[in-house]
Amino acid sequence: MATLLLTNIGKLIQTRQTTENPLSGEDLKSLPSLDNAWLLIDQDTIEDFGSMSTEVPRADEVLDVNGDWVFPGFCDSHTHIVFAESREKEFVMRLQGKSYEEIAAEGGGILNSARKLRETSEDDLYMSAMGRLEEVIGYGTAAIEIKSGYGLTFDSEVKMLRVIKRLKDTYPVSVKATFLGAHAIPTAYKDNRQDYIKLICDEMIPYVAGEGLADYCDVFCDRGFFTPQETEFILEAGWKHGLKPKIHANELGITGGVQAGVAQNAISVDHLEAMSQVEIDLLKGSKTLPTLLPSTSFFLGLPYAQGRKMADEGLPIVLASDYNPGSTPSGKMSFVLSLACLKMKLLPEEAFNAATINGAFAMEVENEYGSITKGKRASIYLTKPMNDLAFVPYAFGSDLIHTIIIDGEVWDRK
Ligand code: NIG
Ligand code: FE
Repeated sequence: MATLLLTNIGKLIQTRQTTENPLSGEDLKSLPSLDNAWLLIDQDTIEDFGSMSTEVPRADEVLDVNGDWVFPGFCDSHTHIVFAESREKEFVMRLQGKSYEEIAAEGGGILNSARKLRETSEDDLYMSAMGRLEEVIGYGTAAIEIKSGYGLTFDSEVKMLRVIKRLKDTYPVSVKATFLGAHAIPTAYKDNRQDYIKLICDEMIPYVAGEGLADYCDVFCDRGFFTPQETEFILEAGWKHGLKPKIHANELGITGGVQAGVAQNAISVDHLEAMSQVEIDLLKGSKTLPTLLPSTSFFLGLPYAQGRKMADEGLPIVLASDYNPGSTPSGKMSFVLSLACLKMKLLPEEAFNAATINGAFAMEVENEYGSITKGKRASIYLTKPMNDLAFVPYAFGSDLIHTIIIDGEVWDRK
C-alpha cells in the first residue's frame, strides 16, 4: 500500500511544523493539536495533515476513524528490557523491611540479575526481551532505548548487546543501544575495582563500539556503585570510541553524578531523585537533558524527582520508564504520565511533551519521532474520543489504546 489517509480524527495530538529544540518553560506547557483532522501517511512516513474543513487529499486507502484521537508514539529513552529473570523475591524482601540498597550490598539486585544472565543463552534472552518489547509497543511506545548492564563480563555484556541488535533489526520501532558495563562492580572484582574499570575501558568499550553494538555509554554513578571520578574516566573512554554518554545519576544520593554527566557533555542524566539547587543550576547552563523516572520512585518508595521545580526553572525535562527487573518492572508510559502528574505536579501537556518529543531528543531521534510532523515516521496510536487530554493520566492503569500504527502499518497486538 502506498498511501493511507485517516479521516475524521477527533483530535490529532502533538502537531508541529518543526521540532528544533527540546521543549522547556512555556513551550513545555503547550501541546498543539488539531480538532476534526485528517492524517496522510505515505508508506512509513507522515506526508501531511490538516483539518477536515479544508481540502482532504486522496489516498490509496482511507480509514474513517470516527472521532477517535490520534497520538504520536511514546519515546521511552531509558529501559533495561533485556534480562534473564524477574526479581519478585527481592520485592517481598523489601515488603519485609529490607531496602533496595541493603539487598544490593548483600549481592542481590544487579548482581543477582548478572548471575542469572550469565547462565542464560542469547536465544532465551532474545525470546524474553521480544515479549517485553512487544508488550511496550502495545502500550504505545514507538522509540526505545535499551541498556546492557546485567552481564558485567566481556562475554555477557556483548551477549546482551547482540540481543538488543537483534531486536533493532527485527522490529519496526526505533531501538537505541546503550553499553552499561559500569552498572555495578561484579563480585569477582570487589577487591580490585580498578581492574574492572580497566576491563571496561580497554576491552569492552573498544569492542562494542568497533562492532557497532552500542550508541551510548552509561555508568551508574551513585552511592555504592561508581564514583564521579570513575564515571568521568569511563565516559572519556566511551567518547574516544564514539559512544556518547547518557548516565544514571543521583538516584540514591547527591553524589556528584550530575556534575560528572555535565562535565562529559552527556546527552542526558537520568533519575535525579536526589537534587539540590546546585545541580539544577548546573543543568540550566548545559545541553544535558534531565530524565525523570517516576515509576522507579513508585516501586522503590524513593522520593520523586522534583519535576515541577525543574520545569519551573526552565529545564527541558524528559520522562521515561526505566523498565527493569529490580527497580521498575513496568514499561507502561501512560502510568509514567499519571505519576508525573500526580506525584511531580506536572500538567498533562508537560508530561506528554516530556514523554514524546523531549524523549526523542534524549535518543537523538527527534527528526523521526516524538510529534506529528511532516516527514517523521508514521508511528502513532489511536484511542476512543475523550472529553479532555487529561483523561489519559487521570485514568491510570486503564488501557485506552485500541489501535497502533507503526511505520504506517497496523501493529497486530498479540
Ligand atoms: O535504573 N539504578 C540502576 N539501575 C536500574 C536498576 C537496576 C536493578 O535493580 O536491576 C535503575 O533503576
Ligand atoms: Fe535505569
